[in-house]
Amino acid sequence: ASASIGVTGLGVMGRNLARNFARNGYTVAVHNRSAGRTRALVDEFGHEGSFVPAETAEEFVAALARPRRLMIMVQAGAATDAVIDEFAPLLENGDMIIDGGNAHFADTRRREAALRERGLHFVGAGISGGEEGALNGPSIMPGGSAESYAVLGPMFESISAKVDGEPCATHIGTDGAGHFVKMVHNGIEYADMQLIAEAYDLLRQVAGYSPAEIADVFRTWNEGRLGSYLVEITAEVLAHTDPHTGGAFVDIVDDAAGQKGTGRWTVQTALDLASPVTAIAQATFARAASGQSDLRAAYRGLPGGTTPPLSRTEAARFTAQVEHALYASKVIAYDQGWKMILDAAAEYGWKIDLGSVARIWRGGCIIRASFLDRIRAAYATDPDLVSLLAEDGFAQEISDAQVPWREIVASAARRGIPVPAFSAALSHYDTLRADRLPAALLQGQRDYFGAHTYRRTDREGSFHTHWSQPDRPETTA
Ligand code: 6PG
Repeated sequence: ASASIGVTGLGVMGRNLARNFARNGYTVAVHNRSAGRTRALVDEFGHEGSFVPAETAEEFVAALARPRRLMIMVQAGAATDAVIDEFAPLLENGDMIIDGGNAHFADTRRREAALRERGLHFVGAGISGGEEGALNGPSIMPGGSAESYAVLGPMFESISAKVDGEPCATHIGTDGAGHFVKMVHNGIEYADMQLIAEAYDLLRQVAGYSPAEIADVFRTWNEGRLGSYLVEITAEVLAHTDPHTGGAFVDIVDDAAGQKGTGRWTVQTALDLASPVTAIAQATFARAASGQSDLRAAYRGLPGGTTPPLSRTEAARFTAQVEHALYASKVIAYDQGWKMILDAAAEYGWKIDLGSVARIWRGGCIIRASFLDRIRAAYATDPDLVSLLAEDGFAQEISDAQVPWREIVASAARRGIPVPAFSAALSHYDTLRADRLPAALLQGQRDYFGAHTYRRTDREGSFHTHWSQPDRPETTA
C-alpha cells in the first residue's frame, strides 16, 4: 500500500486530475470500471509520475496508504452512489472518499451523513476549470470535516492553481458546503456569460459593429476592470471565422443554449432559501428561452422597438456606456451569489469565509478574474460585509455607472433588444436601495383576500383589517 491517493473514474476530468497529482509527486492509484482506460493512462502518461494501476476494486483499495484517500470522478448522480456502494464496504475507520464531480449539495449532505455513521469521511469537493484546469491547476472547493481537510488540504493545495503564490483551494465548510459553493460558482458563471452575451448583442445591433470589431472591444475591456477568462475567450470566439462558410463563427452557430443543470440547481435552491438571485435566474431562463423553438416561431415577427443606426462617434460613446452597464450588472450578479452563500450558511450551519471563496476563485476556475481580487480585498478589510455594495470602492463604481447603466437598459427597451440579465441586475439594485417598496400594497392585498395579516411600521404585532366591515376596528392577530 503505497499510493497517497486513488482516482476511480478515468474520464477526461479523472484522468487529468490523476496526472496532476502524479506530476506533483504523489503516488496515484488509478482505477476504472473498464480496465482499458486504466492501461491507456499508464501507457500514455506513466512517465509523468508514479501510478499504480488497479484492475479490481480490491486491488485498488489495497494500493492505498492509510488513511485511504479515494477520489471518485464519475458522472454525478446514480453512478456516484453505485461507486460509493462498491467501495465503502472495503474501507476502514478514518478512510476518506472524495467526490470531485458536480454533485448536488443535497446529495453530498446525504452521503456524508451516511458515511459518517460508518466511520468514513466523505468530502464533496467542487472542482472548477474544466479539463485544462484539472491537469494544470483547478480551483478546488472541498466540503466535509475539518479533520479530512487536515489530511487532504495540502494535497489539494499542491495541485490547485496558484495566484500570487497562494493556492486556489481552501476548506469551504462541513458536509455539502463545497458542492454548494461550486454550484453558486456555476450560477454566477451563467450570469457572467449572459451579461457578456447581452453586451455583445447591443454592440452588434445598436452600435452596428461586426463580430471582429466586437472581439477588439472585448480585448480592450480585458485589459481593464473587466479582465477575466470569460471576457478573454469571448474575444477569441468572436474573432473566430467558420472554415466552411468563411463567415463569423458566431453567425453559423444555432442560437439555442444548452445547460447541464448546475445553473438551474442554483436557481431552484435560491427559491428555497428566498435568496433573490435574479440576474442568475434570468441568465438561466435566457438559456431556456433560447431553446423554446416553437414559442420563438410563434413570437417571431411581432412588433418591437426601432433601431436607428448610430454614427461612429455615437457608437464609440455607446460602447463606453455598455462597459459601465456590464461592470455594474456583474457586481450585482456576484453580490447575489455571495448573499446566497451567506443565506445557505445560515440555513445549514456552515461557517463560510467569503473572502477565501473570492481568493480561490481568482485562478483556476471558469469565472477567474482580477475582479475577484477586489472582492477578496473587500472582505479582508471587513469580513462581515453583507454586500459588496457596502464597500466604498464598489459603491463608488456603481454610483459612477448610474447614467450609462440606465441609459443602456432604457435604450435596449426602446430598441426591442432583450437584456434580461442587465435589467434584472438594475431592478435588483433599485429594489434594494428603495426607501419603501410596494410590498406594503401586497400585504394589504393578502390581508384583504385571505386575512393573512400585516405588520405596521408604527406598532409591534400582527394586524388584520375587516375589509367588508368598514366600521369595525383593525384587530390584532
Ligand atoms: C467549471 C464549469 C464546469 C462546466 C459546467 C457548466 O467550473 O469548470 O462550470 O463545471 O462547464 O458543467 O456547464 P453547462 O453550461 O453545460 O451547465
